[in-house]
Amino acid sequence: MNAGKRALPGCFISFEGIDGAGKSSHIEALAQRWLPRGVEIVRTREPGGTPLAESLRELVLHRPMDTLTEALLIFAARRDHLQRCIEPALSRGAVVLCDRFSDASFAYQGAGRGFDAAVLGTLERWVQATPTGLRQPDLTLWFDLDPSLAARRVAAARTPDRFEQQDEAFFRRVRDGYQARADAAPERFVRIDAALPRESVYEQVVAALRERGW
Ligand code: TMP
Repeated sequence: MNAGKRALPGCFISFEGIDGAGKSSHIEALAQRWLPRGVEIVRTREPGGTPLAESLRELVLHRPMDTLTEALLIFAARRDHLQRCIEPALSRGAVVLCDRFSDASFAYQGAGRGFDAAVLGTLERWVQATPTGLRQPDLTLWFDLDPSLAARRVAAARTPDRFEQQDEAFFRRVRDGYQARADAAPERFVRIDAALPRESVYEQVVAALRERGW
């Protein structure tokens, strides 16, 4: 269900990367500075984006649990988010800017925690099914950053949650997981070099959208 060169209204854009890669401030900047007036913008995030999914997010980020439980809660949150937020927004012609989507499950639960990718694939097919195919973003901006640099940014910025407490080896695997997803869907993914100064990172983001005629 990747529309490729589709018009901007009704587009679904996801933002991915390891913790500390700096994607959130660019979502904000895009919404404020770049997207045209008159287009409805829905900024949302995963896990989260609806009251139920935000409750599940609290559990996933702060309660100890095994990886299957974690994966099921994240996909349950995604289901609610899709049904109550993302699909209605796309139907209205809104541009959906989503801070993480299912690529994060393959990167964090799959590559990071070593959870069975085939099970994740099944959950993805169940949860993201629509009458016309599998719901995936039209564009995924992957903010790629060396894990040691990302860890320093996180340490300076906030108290780490269950994921941010993981060691550098975990984030190296997560990064490899994103690389594998990017290799499998090159028409959907754009790699952003997140090590560059903030304004250069933003220019790469805008260039990726312009390249699609947006
Ligand atoms: P955030 O802090 O960027 O909002 O993300 C919350 C954390 O949840 C982040 O460390 C990555 C993790 N996560 C997963 O492990 N799997 C997922 O499918 C998603 C969406 C997020």
